[in-house]
Amino acid sequence: AERVLSGVQPTGSLHLGNYLGAIRQWVDFQNNEQKDDEGNVIPVEKFFCVVDLHAITMPHDPKELRESTLSSAALYIAAGIDPAKSNIFVQSHVPAHSELTWLLNCITPLNWLERMIQFKEKAKKQGESVGVGLLTYPCLMAADIILYQATKVPVGEDQRQHLELTRDIVRRFNDMFCKGNPYKKRCREAGIPSRPVFIEPDAIIMKEGARVMSLTDGTNKMSKSDANDASRINVLDPPQTIRDKIKRCKTDSLEGIEWDNPERPEATNLLNIYLAVQPGRTKEDILEEVSEMSWGQFKPLLAEAVVNHLQPIQERYYEVRNDEEKLNRILKDGADAANAVAQQTLFASKIAMGFVTPT
Ligand code: TYM
Repeated sequence: AERVLSGVQPTGSLHLGNYLGAIRQWVDFQNNEQKDDEGNVIPVEKFFCVVDLHAITMPHDPKELRESTLSSAALYIAAGIDPAKSNIFVQSHVPAHSELTWLLNCITPLNWLERMIQFKEKAKKQGESVGVGLLTYPCLMAADIILYQATKVPVGEDQRQHLELTRDIVRRFNDMFCKGNPYKKRCREAGIPSRPVFIEPDAIIMKEGARVMSLTDGTNKMSKSDANDASRINVLDPPQTIRDKIKRCKTDSLEGIEWDNPERPEATNLLNIYLAVQPGRTKEDILEEVSEMSWGQFKPLLAEAVVNHLQPIQERYYEVRNDEEKLNRILKDGADAANAVAQQTLFASKIAMGFVTPT
């Protein structure tokens, strides 16, 4: 069986970048069967995690963490993640994530972490008060993935570097600890197979939606941490808010609308969004429709396309979020399934490192 794992941080509300770059792909993974060369269906187990431990690497408000965590889980379901087909769980409900992170912290060279782009950017904003957690954040992310032996990790472009680091950590761990006769002997005694403990995951990054840019600057990615809410479309923004944000978003003064002109990042971004929220349409057919329009003509079309795409998700969201008992049950089942797998991997990694296990 293959395993897929991914997650979103519950910091504030999820935006169109999180949805188009990540969650929408997860739904595709869930709903499309994977087949091998002979056409046999490959069973795929899916784990979708609300990564609340990641959300505390920047200063956070405890009240908001709770609501954002439940709200993110509800949004996964509203966007099409089906608890009958995928395991949905909260990262902090599976203690193995924190425990494996410590083991990884101890074998990861400091300079691997210091060169992470996201660390450098976020640390700059934090100045002197930057927490150690922000630095070791990629070890936690690696733990999330490799605890489940995930082979595929559907994410947006900005996570590519973290996935590369995860692969480096996997190789380093397997090289350091999963070789030779003493390792084989420890495994035999523990009654587990003596193979390399971790598997190298592949990042799965879709072309469309992999990088949704800010509405106020087409050269910056849409992000939860931008202080200006008008820079992003939140998945739960009411229709009028979406219309207003698009009406006011940055454009340029050139005539017509074109794709992939490096001088016109806003045009490319808005066209990408227009394409992504209308599955089934192609770039060619969209260009035919809009390339000669003015911004004043195009913007209302874009706004309605986004509103129409998000409307059914928003409706389902409020149903799911308002039945907290059911939501908690789903998260409990997800955590039970996740714990069962994660415990086994954690056990194997401790045997590899030479820990004495309790008898
Ligand atoms: P986070 O919470 O910043 O973002 C969640 C997902 O959304 C994608 N994304 C975007 N995609 C396109 N355009 C954008 N503007 C945009 N902004 C965000 C991200 O690429 C991501 O896929 N470290 C991760 C969370 C994480 C994780 C994991 C992911 C923790 N553990 C294990 C995969 C597997 C993060 O901060 O994502």
